[in-house]
Amino acid sequence: MSKICINIAWPYANGPIHLGHVAGSLLPPDIFRRYNLLIGNEVLMVGGSDQHGTPITVSAEKKGVTPEEYANMYHEINKKAIEDLGIEYSLYNKTHCDTHIEVTQKIFNDLKDKGYIYIKETNQYFCPKCSRFLPDRYVEGICPKCGAEKTRSDQCDACGTTFEPGDLKEPYCTLCGTTPEIRPTQHFFLKLSAFRDQLLEYVSSKDYWRANVKAFTQNWLSDEGLFDRAITRDMSWGVPIPVEGWDDKVIYVWFEAVIGYLSASVEYSKMIGKPDYWKEFWQNPECKHYYFIGKDNIPFHSIIWPAILMGLGNIELPYDIPANEYLMLGGGKLSKSRGGAIDIPSVLEKFDADVVRYYLSAVMPDTHDSEFTWEDFQTKVNNELVAALGNFYHRSLDFAKKNYGAIPAGTDDPEVTKAIEETLAEYIECLSHCDFKKGLKAVMNLASFSNKYFNDAAPWKLVKEDKDACGNVIYNVLRLVQALSIFAWPYMPKSSERIWGFLNNEGTVQDAGLDFVKSGVKIGQSLNDSVPVFKKVDIPELKEKKEEKKPEAAAQPANFTGPFADFRKLDIRVGTIIAVDDHPEAEKLYVLKVDLGEEEPRQLVTNIKPLFPRDYMMGRRLLVISNLKKAKFRGVESAGMLMAADDEKVGGTHLALLKPSTDVPNGTKLNCGLENSSSRIELKHFEAVTIKMSTVQDGKFMGKDMKLPDGAPKRVVAIIDGDNIMPFGDGKECVITVDEDSEILDEADVR
Ligand code: MF3
Ligand code: ZN
Repeated sequence: MSKICINIAWPYANGPIHLGHVAGSLLPPDIFRRYNLLIGNEVLMVGGSDQHGTPITVSAEKKGVTPEEYANMYHEINKKAIEDLGIEYSLYNKTHCDTHIEVTQKIFNDLKDKGYIYIKETNQYFCPKCSRFLPDRYVEGICPKCGAEKTRSDQCDACGTTFEPGDLKEPYCTLCGTTPEIRPTQHFFLKLSAFRDQLLEYVSSKDYWRANVKAFTQNWLSDEGLFDRAITRDMSWGVPIPVEGWDDKVIYVWFEAVIGYLSASVEYSKMIGKPDYWKEFWQNPECKHYYFIGKDNIPFHSIIWPAILMGLGNIELPYDIPANEYLMLGGGKLSKSRGGAIDIPSVLEKFDADVVRYYLSAVMPDTHDSEFTWEDFQTKVNNELVAALGNFYHRSLDFAKKNYGAIPAGTDDPEVTKAIEETLAEYIECLSHCDFKKGLKAVMNLASFSNKYFNDAAPWKLVKEDKDACGNVIYNVLRLVQALSIFAWPYMPKSSERIWGFLNNEGTVQDAGLDFVKSGVKIGQSLNDSVPVFKKVDIPELKEKKEEKKPEAAAQPANFTGPFADFRKLDIRVGTIIAVDDHPEAEKLYVLKVDLGEEEPRQLVTNIKPLFPRDYMMGRRLLVISNLKKAKFRGVESAGMLMAADDEKVGGTHLALLKPSTDVPNGTKLNCGLENSSSRIELKHFEAVTIKMSTVQDGKFMGKDMKLPDGAPKRVVAIIDGDNIMPFGDGKECVITVDEDSEILDEADVR
C-alpha cells in the first residue's frame, strides 16, 4: 500500500464551476483517486476555492457586495456542485480561512528569514483618475509577445506569457479606461533566481511528464528568464503581509493559493483529530504528489510552487503535473452554449452525475483541446454509454433474474477470462499514467465485447433448448457485468455501486478492489431486481434543429452504404492560402482567405493559430472541405474547414496540415475518382469516415496492401472502409501528404 497525495487546482470563487473546469482539472483527479483506492492505496485529496485576488474583487465590485460575501457564496455553490458530481475531496477548503492564513504567513516569514524573500522598489501601474495602484486584472492592454488584445496585466491567456508592470502595450485602467502611469512603490519579491540550478535539475528528471508540461516549464526556465517576482499586491483583500507597516498591501494570490495544498492538508489533519497526519504525505519521500490543473496554471505548479517548497526544505515536491488542455466551444474556451447552460448546478438539474462524468471522460482534453457540443453529448451518451454499457448491464441482469433468480452454475469461459485480463492490463497501464480517456476506451471495448458475447450465444433461444448450457453463458455474462462495474467505478461510481447491489454482492465496489475483476461470481447467490442505470438523454433544443434538416437528408443519394458513402458526401478541394488575419475577438483564431479556384476567395476561421505562425500559413497549399454548412466563429463566418492530421499518441499538441503531393490547380476535387455531392453537409458526415495518415512501406499501409502512384511520397493519407483502403487524392497522380519533418507519428487521425 502506498500513500498518494492528490492536489487539485483551486477554482476561483467568482462564478459557478462549469463543464470546462470539470473536464480540465476536477474530474481527472477523482478518477485517479478512485483508481488508487481500488488498488489499495491511501489517498489524501485536497483543494478548494481560490477566494482572493483580483478576479474576485473585480466581480464583487460589479455586483456591489464585499469580496468576502461574494467569495463565500460561490464557495458554497461550488462545494455542493462538486459533491453532487461525486467528486470526493478529503477536504474542499477555501483560502479565506484561519489555517490557510496562518500557514501562508509562516511560510512567508520562514522564506524571508532565509533571505528568499526581500523588499525591492518596483514600478507599478497607478491610475491618476482613480488615484490608486492597479494590480493585475485592473489593467488590460495588448500582449507584447503575441499581440492579443484585452490581455490582463499579469498573464496572457492566448500565449501563456506572464508579465511585469510596464510589459503590456497600450495599457488602460479597467475601472475608468484611463491610461495608467507607472509609479515606484515597494513590494516583497521571491528570489526565484536562487533556485535556478535546483529547478533545472528537478525538471530534467521528469521524463514521464506530459510533453506540454515539460516543454512549457523548460521554456520558462530558459528563455523567459527566471527572474525574481513580486509576491505582494496593492489591495486589501487577501492574506495580510505578516510584517509591520504593510497594511495597505496583501500577499499575491498565486503565492498563497499554491500554499493552499499544504494548508488544506494541515486543516484536514486537525479536522480528523490527527494534527500530524499531513506529515505522512508531505514529509514522506515514498509519497507521490500529483497536481491536476489546467494548462494556464503550469508555471505556478512546475516552477513557483516547487521553488517555495525548495526554500522550505524537507517537504515533497510535485511528482507529476498532468495538466489538461481546454474544452472548447466553437473555437473559443468554453463559457456558454446553445442547448443549455453549462454551469454544473444547471447541468445536474437535467442530467445524472454519472452521465456527465462519462461524457467528460470521453472527451477529456488531455493531450489537446477538445470540442464540446450538446449534440455530441447526446450522441455519446445515447450511442455509447446507454447503448453499450447500460444495455449490457440491464439485459444481462434482467435475463438472469427472470430465468434463474440467482447466479446460475457455470464454468469460466477462457474467452471471457482473456477479455477481462486483457482489459485489466490495458486499464492499469492507462490509469496509473493518468491516461483516463484511453482507460475509458478500454472499459467500453470490454462492454462491446460483452454485448457481442451475449448476442452470439443468443440466450433467449438457448434457454428454451438447454437451460443448463444457457446458465453457463449467463454465469459468464455475469462475470462480465461484475468486472465492468469495477472497471467503470472510478468514472461512474454511483451506477457501479447500483450494479453491485443488483448482483447482491456484499460491501462496496471499493471494498472489493480492482483484483476482484478476476474473481468469479458466486454461484447460487440470489439476484436483486434491476433497473436500467443510465437513461437516454433528450435535449429538446436540438430536435428543433434536426427537423429543419430533414428535407435535405432525404435528397442525399442512398445507394452507397458505410464509410465510403459518407466520404462521397464530402467535397474536398485543393486551395492556396492568400491571406492570414487575426480574428478580431478571439486570440486563438485565424481568419484565412483561401483561393479555391472560385471567383471569390473563401473565408475560413480556424483555431490553429497557437500552433502555426503566420509565415508558415501564408502561401501554403492545403485541403478544404468546401461544402460544409457555413458556421460562425465568434461572429466571423467560416465557409469550410481545413484538413489536418492529428496525433493523440505522442502527447502535447501534434497537428500537421495536409497538402497535395503534386502541383494540381486550385479547386481540384480530391474524391479518389468517386463522384461526390455538392450539397451542404454537416460535420458529422466527415466524422463518420475513417481517414488516417500513415507511412506506406513495401506497399503496405497500416498492415494492409495499398498501391500508390509512381513518385508518391511515403507518408500519405488514406480512407479506410473495413478491409478496403484507398489512397486519398484525385484518383490519378496526386495524393495527400504532410510536410516531411512534421512531428506526427504513423496512424494519425485526420480531421
Ligand atoms: N484559481 C486559479 C485558476 O482558476 C487556480 C489556482 S490553483 C493554485 O486559474 F495553485 F493556486 F492553487
Ligand atoms: Zn482608473
